[in-house]
Amino acid sequence: MLEQIRQASSYLQHKFSAPVQTGIILGSGLGNLVSEIDVEVTIPYEEIPNFPLSTVAGHKGQLIYGTLGNQKVLAMQGRFHYYEGYDLKQVTFPVRVMKELGIKNLIISNAAGGMNENFEIGELMVIRDHINLFPESPLHGQNNPALGVRFPDMSAAYHQSWIEKAFEIANANNIKLSKGVYVGLSGPCLETPAEYKMLKILGGDAVGMSTVPEVIVAVHAGLKVFAISIITDLGVEGRIVKVTHEDVVRVAAAQEPKMTLIIKELVNSI
Ligand code: HPA
Repeated sequence: MLEQIRQASSYLQHKFSAPVQTGIILGSGLGNLVSEIDVEVTIPYEEIPNFPLSTVAGHKGQLIYGTLGNQKVLAMQGRFHYYEGYDLKQVTFPVRVMKELGIKNLIISNAAGGMNENFEIGELMVIRDHINLFPESPLHGQNNPALGVRFPDMSAAYHQSWIEKAFEIANANNIKLSKGVYVGLSGPCLETPAEYKMLKILGGDAVGMSTVPEVIVAVHAGLKVFAISIITDLGVEGRIVKVTHEDVVRVAAAQEPKMTLIIKELVNSI
């Protein structure tokens, strides 16, 4: 895998004018953060050696290099999901490549269903911890010590001071922000009412089909992580309605400016 990571990163490296500090992964309907980036280079995933291709509507499938606030960033406009048929090593390959390119920080966004009964549709939730319900681990198999340790510590996967910073930013801008536990699972079905109930009993506040594998690999790679969900639909007993992917993308897109503001100011403070 190291060889494939290096092929991809050396293809990308010479396109960049300066080293990149922060990687950003943009979820469903959340690609507009890119309009805040002073874009220098756009690279479609299909050009990058060994990169998978994004197959989901609302996910563009390109890597953006540029300046956000005072930092060089690399943003993934569109990510890879397990349900697309990739294994979790492929899903997280871009995180490995961004690490090889020199990032120290990884910021992740996603659209998620909310199980917490205090949540409203459109609410933002900072992820403080996660529960991994994917059927495999991106670290399954022989460990390459060049990439990280065999048994990564997950006691503080989400960088505490950035969680606090996000709340400062939200308060200063009158943005309602919550904090919670994200449950990651394979999809692609949304959950049944009984499953939402189970996930809530397990300790989850929100559920989605991404993020967790990326965070595991980021922690393995020694990156600092910040992750934020937009609650696009509710898995709360009595309030569950029929949901389409278009609904998810629409709600995410409508709430995106608030998330973008938080991420932009957070990156500026790093
Ligand atoms: N479940 C799983 N993934 C999701 C959901 C959901 O309710 N909403 C957006 N992504």
